[in-house]
Amino acid sequence: MEKVIYILILIILENSNFYKDVKTIYNPTTYDFIVNKNNKLEKTYEPYDLTLIDKSYACDNKYLRMEAKNAFEKLASDAKNEGYNIIAVSTYRSYEYQEKLYNNYAINKGFYYADMSSARAGFSEHQTGLAVDVADESLDYDNFENTKEFKWMMNNAYKYGFILRYPKAKFHITGFKYEPWHYRYVGKDISKYIYDNNITLEEYKNKVN
Ligand code: DAL
Ligand code: ZN
Repeated sequence: MEKVIYILILIILENSNFYKDVKTIYNPTTYDFIVNKNNKLEKTYEPYDLTLIDKSYACDNKYLRMEAKNAFEKLASDAKNEGYNIIAVSTYRSYEYQEKLYNNYAINKGFYYADMSSARAGFSEHQTGLAVDVADESLDYDNFENTKEFKWMMNNAYKYGFILRYPKAKFHITGFKYEPWHYRYVGKDISKYIYDNNITLEEYKNKVN
C-alpha cells in the first residue's frame, strides 16, 4: 500500500504545476497570504516583527511574528492548564537554513522524497514567521499524531488562529504529504472558516479571490 501511495505521489508531482508559474510575495505584513510551491518569498525576506517565544512553550530560542507568537503562547498556556504540553520545535527559518534542510533531504533520500516533505528555499512557510511545528514534551514531532496533544490541537488550534496546514489526502492541493505537526497562523476568522469547511489554505484563497 505504501508503495502504491508513493507511486501516486510521483505521478502527481510529475504532472502538477508545482514550482511552475511562480509568483513572488514581496514583504508580506498581513496574516492571510499564501506561501507554497507557486508563491515564494524573496531570499532576503525576514519578518520585521519576529519575537522570542516564552521558553516554557518552546525548545530553545524560537521566534514567530509577534501576533502569531502571542496567539501561540495563549494556545500553549491554555493547553497546559488542561494537562497538555504543546511545544514549538521549529518556527521561523531563514532562506539559508531552509536551503540546507532541503538539500539534506535531497542528498539522503532523493529529490522526490525531498519535494514531498520539504519546501525548496524561498517556498517554505517557515520563512514567513507564521508557521510552527509542534510536539509534546518528548519533542518528537514525527510521533505527534499518536499523542493526546495532537487530538487537543485538532479540536482547538483554530480557536487561536492556527490551521493544520498539510492535512491528510490533500497532497494534490498543498504539494506536501500529511504533516500532523505543522500549523500556520492565519488569524481567527480565517482559521475558523477553514476548520468549519474542512479545507486547505489554497482552497480558501481560491474561494475568496
Ligand atoms: N515541511 C514544510 C513543508 C517545509 O519545509 O516548509
Ligand atoms: Zn513545518
